[in-house]
Amino acid sequence: IRVAVIGGGQNCEHEVSLASAASVRAALDPSRYEAVGLTILRDGRWLGPIGRPLGGSPSESLAAALTVLARCDVVLPVLHGPRGEDGTIAALCELAGIPCAGSPARAGALAMDKWATKLVAEAVGVRTAPGRLVTAADLPIVFDGPVVVKPVAAGSSFGVRLVDTARDFEPALQAALELDERVLVEQVVTGREIDVAVLDDPDRGRRTAPPLEIVVDDGLFDTTTKYDGSAVFVISPQLEEKEADALTDAALRVYAALGCHGIARVDFFLTTDGPVLNEVNTMPGMTANSQVPKMFDADGLGYPQLLDRIIRSTPG
Ligand code: DAL
Ligand code: MG
Repeated sequence: IRVAVIGGGQNCEHEVSLASAASVRAALDPSRYEAVGLTILRDGRWLGPIGRPLGGSPSESLAAALTVLARCDVVLPVLHGPRGEDGTIAALCELAGIPCAGSPARAGALAMDKWATKLVAEAVGVRTAPGRLVTAADLPIVFDGPVVVKPVAAGSSFGVRLVDTARDFEPALQAALELDERVLVEQVVTGREIDVAVLDDPDRGRRTAPPLEIVVDDGLFDTTTKYDGSAVFVISPQLEEKEADALTDAALRVYAALGCHGIARVDFFLTTDGPVLNEVNTMPGMTANSQVPKMFDADGLGYPQLLDRIIRSTPG
C-alpha cells in the first residue's frame, strides 16, 4: 500500500510537522506500507520523494504533487496548522478522488478555527472559555482583567499570550494579528490541562485513549515548553470517575459535532466545575514522543499499529 506522507507546510508549525512526518515515515510497517514522502515548503512549493523539487512555480509544483498523490493509494497529511490541518489538503484529495486519512475538509476547517469550534462545542453542551472575536477594525479595546490572546487559526501556541496588565494587551493583540486577521480574547481558565485522544479504530470502533495530563513547572504549556522537553506528560492521571467520564464524553461529543474522522486530540482544562474545551487538533503532534502516540501506547496500541489504524480508517 503506497502512502503519501506529507510534511512541512506554509505556517509557523512547519518544523513541528517535519518532525511528525519524519517519525511517521520511519514507523510505518514496511511489510505493509511503502511511504512516499512529500514536503510542502514555506513558499508553497513541494518537494517530492528523495527531496526532489516538483515543478517551478507554486502552482506548477502543486500540479506535479497532485500527480504523485494520484499514484498513491492513500494520502496521510501529517501537517499542522493552516493550509494543511485546516482541511485544505483533504479538500484537494476530495476533489481529485484520492483517499485521504484523517478528518474531511469541513472538519479540518471547523477545528482549525478556534471561534467556530467554540460555537459548535457550546451548541452541543461542551463549555469553552468565555471570549470575544477581535479584528483590527475593533481596536483599540479596553483591557478588563487577565485574558488569553490567540490567533483564531494557528497552532503550537504560536502567537498566544497570557496578558495580566493593560500595558501588555495591545502588543499581544498585534502579535496575534500578525498570524491571523481574526483574534480571540478569552477569559483565563484555571484548571488542570488534560488531553483526550479519539481514534476511529477500524477494528474496535470509535474510542478514546487514557487521558494525558500536561504538567509544566512554571505552569504555562507554551511554544517553548511544548518542545524543550520540560513539560511532563502524565498518562492516566489521578481523576475522579465522574471527571474522567465527563472528559471522555465531551471529547466524543465535540469530535462528532465537528465531523472529525480518523484521529484527533481534544484538549481541555479540567476545572472544579468540570471540563472546559481548549481546542481540537485534527492532526495532533505525531512523533513517537508526542501526546497521542504515547496515550495509545499506554493502552497497548504501539505507534506503528496506531498509524496502521489511522490509515485503515480512511473511507474508500
Ligand atoms: N499543534 C500541535 C502540533 C499539536 O497539537 O500537537
Ligand atoms: Mg493545536
